[in-house]
Amino acid sequence: MSKHIARIGIVTISDRANRGEYDDLSGPAISDWLEKALTTEWEAVTRLVPDERPKIEMTLKDLSDDQGCCLIVTSGGTGPASRDITPEATETVCDKILDGFGEQMRAISLRHVPTAILSRQVAGIRGATLMINLPGNPSAIADCLDAVFPAVPYCIDLIEGPYLETDETVVRAFRPKHARKG
Ligand code: MTE
Repeated sequence: MSKHIARIGIVTISDRANRGEYDDLSGPAISDWLEKALTTEWEAVTRLVPDERPKIEMTLKDLSDDQGCCLIVTSGGTGPASRDITPEATETVCDKILDGFGEQMRAISLRHVPTAILSRQVAGIRGATLMINLPGNPSAIADCLDAVFPAVPYCIDLIEGPYLETDETVVRAFRPKHARKG
């Protein structure tokens, strides 16, 4: 594990992608978005898991505790169907829930699709890791990351993670004045 590079977990949670019934499009969409947005050196730690609560919880714990990810972005399993269990798994492994993330993502997504109201996505902190759920639809990735990412680097500062910098033409990281470098 390289110590100086920010590690970011990208977790696709989908029974069908896990069985190979379709290609995982959301994981690569998250990775592409981060590639464009971040100017800080970072590396992806990717996982593809079925909608099974113990497996999701194990994966999130591993990425946080053992892989040292400062950020984990999940996609899928946030809806109302019986197998959709991502928010519950995320809440179980987190010490703190940050309600604003889900609220903001639903508010923005509702401008695009009325069914955004069906997404129960949450975000929270486990140790020195921020975890954010996104819906499974690949078209939701950019909508949601555009909406919440401005607050992500400062959140990671507060949990004593790496200092993340962004390409301001893609997304502007907001830090309160007293927290800015230099
Ligand atoms: N949000 C955005 N931005 N775009 C979308 O297409 N799909 C919605 C919702 N949020 C959607 C969205 C739908 S149809 C559902 S069922 C929920 O997210 C949950 O999706 P998931 O179970 O794949 O996570």
